[in-house]
Amino acid sequence: MSNTDQNLMNAFAGESQANRKYLAFAKKAEEEGYAQVARLFRAAAAAETIHAHNHLRALGAVKSTKDNLLAAIGGETYEFQKMYPPMIASAKEDGNDKAFMSFRGANEVEKIHAALYQKALDTLGTNVVTDYYVCSVCGYTAEGEAPDECPVCKAKKRAFQKAE
Ligand code: FE2
Ligand code: FE2
Ligand code: FE2
Repeated sequence: MSNTDQNLMNAFAGESQANRKYLAFAKKAEEEGYAQVARLFRAAAAAETIHAHNHLRALGAVKSTKDNLLAAIGGETYEFQKMYPPMIASAKEDGNDKAFMSFRGANEVEKIHAALYQKALDTLGTNVVTDYYVCSVCGYTAEGEAPDECPVCKAKKRAFQKAE
């Protein structure tokens, strides 16, 4: 990989993180009553998304939907097979309950994501129309309708948000 491609990857990672961080900061600012600061964090977050997407496209990492589904399946599978298991074990060893719960929840959800992407790949072009609901606590992603209780974190149906 060229130096520039490596730089694009690093910059994509940094901009992506800034986007999610600013959205978390905006939520906190909103909770603390700083609506104007929240607005600024959301505006900057939107700009960081544009930077991240520009870097990703310059890298040539946005391909056809079929290729993108394959890339997504690969990424999700790596996470639940290789990335999270040792992180979960280490958090348990450290007695870090917050990290353990965060890793475990994500790990379970990545399995679902890989399966949903695989299904989408298998049915690509067949015009299947279905809604998706996301658990606001753990990210569990449900197809069709929200479950009465999240199978990963036990949150109630009202914690689910319909994806656009
Ligand atoms: Fe930026
Ligand atoms: Fe995922
Ligand atoms: Fe959940």
